[in-house]
Amino acid sequence: MTSTLMPGVSPDWLSLREPADARSRAADLVDDLRERVGDAPRMVIHDLGCGTGSAARWLAPKLPAAQHWIMWDRDPDLLAAALAGKPDGITAATRVRDIGTLHAADLAGAALVTASALIDILTVDEVDAIASACAGAGVPALIMLSVVGRVEFTPADPFDAEVAAAFNAHQRRSVGGRRLLGPDAVAALDEAFARHGVATTLRPSPWQLGADDRALLEVWFREWLAAAVDQVPALAAPAAGYARRRTAEIAEGRLTASVHHVDLLALP
Ligand SMILES: C[S@@+](CC[C@H](N)C(=O)[O-])C[C@H]1O[C@@H](n2cnc3c(N)ncnc32)[C@H](O)[C@@H]1O
Repeated sequence: MTSTLMPGVSPDWLSLREPADARSRAADLVDDLRERVGDAPRMVIHDLGCGTGSAARWLAPKLPAAQHWIMWDRDPDLLAAALAGKPDGITAATRVRDIGTLHAADLAGAALVTASALIDILTVDEVDAIASACAGAGVPALIMLSVVGRVEFTPADPFDAEVAAAFNAHQRRSVGGRRLLGPDAVAALDEAFARHGVATTLRPSPWQLGADDRALLEVWFREWLAAAVDQVPALAAPAAGYARRRTAEIAEGRLTASVHHVDLLALP
């Protein structure tokens, strides 16, 4: 999770979320992708904003060909962890690069571009750069686990909706002159691919978190609420009681949360 309170992305957070990500990704889009790839003997795959390489660990065993992964991130420490943790049987290289600088020429010879949990922290121009580069190079894109701004809790709480609205406003904030897309990112990427004449397929990929995910639920909820309060400071007082209620429910294994995401496959 990223917020003004947690501006970098910690390897601990990525490791905590990796099992939930793995079971939430829309596997049927990989079936569609396999049909497109056919029996190519070798694939070059670019993973944008790869973090510690969670997508490669999930996707590489599901693809038929020999694979060379090019891992992009602006954080060299995360790239080092991605190389160290790459799955057996693939080769990999890293690029310390900003996604906003991506061009079609970077994708020459590529079979796939992928990204996970990335586009909500990009701007409309950066998302357009991804679509333009993939369309220009004729490369499919599998963009997974993009948040869409919808969270459902059981049991429900009267304060949920107010916090969710403040969190979504926080995700759409401007940082250093960059207006982040937040929950509007999937629609923006979909529109960008359409403008570039590329067909897309969208699938839901929600986290379904419950008693077996207490550690993830606890950290995610704390950061979700902190970002909401950061955005709307007037929520601080009512948030204290809300946090106590929800934290107790998580500790007792009584809270479930659906955190909605969407996966998108673009096939130029
Ligand atoms: C939420 S993490 C997701 C990491 C990984 N894809 C995963 O699913 O575990 C977002 C990643 O994108 C990287 N990132 C964010 N904005 C970027 C940019 N403009 N250029 C390059 N990397 C970026 C961050 O450093 C971080 O590793």
